[in-house]
Parts: sequence; C-alpha cells; structure tokens
Amino acid sequence: MFRNLVIWAMVLMTFCFAVPFACGQAKIVDAEGHQWWQHAVFYEIYPRSFADSNNDGIGDLKGITSKMDYLKDLGVDAIWMTPCYPSPQIDFGYDVSDYENIDPMYGTLKDFDRLEADGQKRGIQIIMDFVMNHSSDQHQWFIDSRSSRTSTHRNWYVWHDGKGPGQPPNNWQSTFGHSAWTLDPKTNQYYYHYFYPEQPDLNWRNPAVEKAMFDVTRWWYDRGVAGFRLDAVDTLFEDPDLRDNPILPGKNKFGDPNMEDKYNVKLPEVHEVLRDLRKVADQHNAVLIGETWTKDVSELKQYYGEHSNELQMPMDFLFTTVNKVSAPEFRRQIAAVDSAGGWPVYVLSNHDIVRSYNRYGDGQHNDAIAKLMAGLYLSLRGTPIMYYGEEIGMENNDPKRKEDVKDPIGKIGWPQEKGRDGERTPMQWTSDANAGFTQGTPWLPVPPSYKTHNVANEQQDPNSILQFYRHLLALRHQNRALLDGDYVPLNENDPDVLSYLRRYKDQSVLVVLNMSSQARTIDLDLASKGINSKKAQTLLTTMGNEGKERTLPQMSLEPFSVYIGELSK
Ligand code: NOJ
Ligand code: CA
Repeated sequence: MFRNLVIWAMVLMTFCFAVPFACGQAKIVDAEGHQWWQHAVFYEIYPRSFADSNNDGIGDLKGITSKMDYLKDLGVDAIWMTPCYPSPQIDFGYDVSDYENIDPMYGTLKDFDRLEADGQKRGIQIIMDFVMNHSSDQHQWFIDSRSSRTSTHRNWYVWHDGKGPGQPPNNWQSTFGHSAWTLDPKTNQYYYHYFYPEQPDLNWRNPAVEKAMFDVTRWWYDRGVAGFRLDAVDTLFEDPDLRDNPILPGKNKFGDPNMEDKYNVKLPEVHEVLRDLRKVADQHNAVLIGETWTKDVSELKQYYGEHSNELQMPMDFLFTTVNKVSAPEFRRQIAAVDSAGGWPVYVLSNHDIVRSYNRYGDGQHNDAIAKLMAGLYLSLRGTPIMYYGEEIGMENNDPKRKEDVKDPIGKIGWPQEKGRDGERTPMQWTSDANAGFTQGTPWLPVPPSYKTHNVANEQQDPNSILQFYRHLLALRHQNRALLDGDYVPLNENDPDVLSYLRRYKDQSVLVVLNMSSQARTIDLDLASKGINSKKAQTLLTTMGNEGKERTLPQMSLEPFSVYIGELSK
C-alpha cells in the first residue's frame, strides 16, 4: 500500500514538472530556477490599432488572432493587451463598465478563448490589463453608488461633502487636468477621480471592493490568462483625512497650479493590496507586471516587496525619460536597475509615451538608431516589454489640429498637450491603403512613413529594422549568456560607445553599441575583467561587411552600429 502511494507520488511529481501550469507550481524553465517570464519577450498590443478583421476601422480580437504567426516568428512569448473589456471608451478602454466580458467592438468571449487557445498552441501567453484604481461611471457598481447615499455600492467609491458651497472637499487635482472631485447633484456630494470624471476611483478601503476585484482576477485566470499588467497601482489609496496637497511654483500643461501628489499617490497601503494580489496570482502561476513610475531606481525595490512577495515585474520606465542617445546616461540607468535587487523589466515606450523612433531618432540615422536601441535593451539582463510597431520603426503621428484629437487630454491641454493619439496609430502591415490595417476608415490616420516602414516590405529586406529584431530575439532565446548572464560594464568612461559583457559561467558575450554619429575605434578593456580573449565570433551586427570573426581588443565601429559577439575561451 505504502509502495503504491510512493509510486503515485512520483508519477504526479513527474507530471507536474512536465505540465507545471496544471499543478499549481511556478513554471520553472531551467535548473537555476528561472521562471518562464524571466526568459520571455513581452509585446504590448493596443487592440484598437493592431488588426481590423471586420473593416469597421477599429482593431479587434480576431485581428490579433490572425497575426499570431507573425508574433511567433518575431520571437514574442507573451502579449499584454491593453483593456478590451466593455467600456464607453472615454479613455479608450481604461474606463471599464464590466470587468468580466469583452467589448462587442473587439469581439466576444468566444473570440477571446480562441485567441488564448491559438496563443497557447504557439507558446504565447496572454496578459490582461487590470484597471484596478477606477471603473467607468457606467459600471453597474457606480450607477448604483451614485443613486442614493444609502445604496448598496455607495461606499464602493470615494464620496465626500464639499468644503462649502461650490467648493470641492480639498485641492487634489486629476492627473488629466483640473479638480479631482466632481459634484453629483443627485446626492449633492463629490466623488473622487484621479483620472477623468468618467473614471471614478474605487474605494480600496472597502473589503467588498477588494474581494470583488480579486475575484475578477480569478475569473480571468480560470479562462487561461497568464497574468496581469496592473494599471495605475500608485493611485489606489487616498489620505482618509483628505489633507490638501502642497502647491509647487508654476503651472502645469492644463493651466492648473503645480502640485505634489503627497496625499493621494503612493500611499503605503498599496503594498498590502499588492501582497494579497500576489497570493492569488501565485495560486495560478501568474505574473504581475506593474505600471510603476519611479523617480529613481531605488524606489523600484518597494514594488518587488521586501520578501519578493509583491510584483514579479515592476516596469522600469527610466529609459523612457532618457530622450537622447547617450552612452553615459544609459550606462548609469542600467547599472542602477541591474543592481536594484529584482529582475529588471525594460521598456522603451508604450501607448502613453512618444514612440522611441521619434524620441531617439536624429532625423538622419533614424533606422540605424532604432536598431541600436533594440541592440541595447534586448541584450540586457532582464525582461523586455516591446510596444507594437517598434519592430518596424513606427513613428508618432500627432494630430495637427485640435478638432482631430481623439484622446481627451489632448483636447483639455491643447496645444501644449496634444494627447496620446500619435503613439496609438494603426499597425503598419503593408504599403497598401491604410497600411493594410483595415479596408474601412481607420480610427486614427496612419503616418506617411507606412509606405516604407511596414511588415511586408521589411520582411523582404534583409537589412530592415524588423529583420534585426527577429535575429536579435532568436539569438536572445537560445544564448545562455544573453538570457541569464551577469551584466559586466566595460570602458565605463567612454562618452560615445556603450559596451558590456553578458557573462554566464565561463561564457562571455560582448555587446558594443556606438551611440555617436561618428565612426569610432575603441580599445576594449577586457583585461581588467580577467579576460584574455583575442577574438570574438560575430553573432549579430549592423555592420554590413563584417566577417565572422573580430580581432580584439581593438574594434572599429560604424556610426550608430551594434556589434554582438561571443568571446573565444
Ligand atoms: C495608465 C494607462 O496606461 C493610461 O493609458 C490610462 O489613461 C491611465 N492609466 C488611466 O487608467
Ligand atoms: Ca474591427
């Protein structure tokens, strides 16, 4: 009897190692205990803009599913979809009116299941966006909440009396402009919204809210999602005493006084919620990615949690604040992130940030710089999150006139703030009309660059940005040093060339990035790292006439070039 039990236990353990998602264990991918998301390449999709299957001008889930082979071939392991739940679309999905469904404009739950299944077939995980700070004002919870002061859901949102006639409870401002309080005449109280008035903040001090929201995550885990990107985590809690925020000198882009969000952002209670959310995630082998804006890297530690029990993947946005190609600046950021103690998560851009092609491009070498930036963040220790279209060199297409703006902040803040339409334009698939995104009228116009920068053309061109991404991602997936090796900076005083090793046991991969518009010849200081290699085997480079081997330590580099090579032992 005992022997049978032992045999059964062994069978079960073997099965669980092979099928870890089914057995409630983390999906470990190697002997050193790395989890699947540490070796994965994530890709953010803005569903409205990826692929339109029914030609209504708006991207949809069937469209995404139809591009699954493209994503697989590119080297993507997980897609994060920005919200596609039912929504009045005031903030294009970040105003959710039902957390457990799909907006008809994007499809149905059946379409979602198909997308999920098609992803699974190719080893692509699906990550949903969890808009946890606020719902839409059209959510049933808020409709009930505002109906009377004694309604069941009244305390699910943040309601207060004004300070006096016509005066909100305090001076807090919405990050989307003007007061964060809106008076609701029906019950003559103000409700709080850190974002648009149509996005009332949920009251996370109410346990019923926490339970309902945690159940939402369980519901999607049961449907097969592999994790969540947590929206606006810093804004979950507000000071119960409603103290006024300190006013700072000057005005912001909405014409409001500058303010330190001292009493309504980053309250410590956030971390209790993150820890509890992580417990639920762990029961489902899921990964939590955070929208974690920090002033410096040391702050990121808090989101990993003291015992690594909060977010596995708090995003490091600091690259997005470096708006020029600068070796010293990137060197500084990488060193800080790499030593912060957690697994780094690198981001160049997203649906809220001007595209990297524009931020780093100098107008003359834009394509070379796009490859250079890929060479940088896709060769570092950590998990990258790409933004759709980055791999083909998509650029911003900002509205030229106020009347063309779709994103409300562009209307409120025009002309200083043009909104985020520019970085959300349709994916450029072909050089046909509307970049092959739709046969209807696209919800946002494609930039003229679609004629040259599109998937079809770039698939034919061996020197395209797309081909560089494909090769780099393929290399990254199979090279142990690039996956797990330590980051070892080289030549740390060079003002133009960023170089480093990725070192795993006795294997070393050399990465050299010329961040200047001039050709450069450098002497790599490998000796101080105990390396005597006289040769590197070229793995990938943007320098056309490159042989298979390079002699070290001297190295000549073309302007804005990338060299990646394996050092001979
Ligand atoms: C962050 C999202 O990325 C942004 O697009 C949205 O407007 C706000 N959170 C509010 O949900
Ligand atoms: Ca559509």
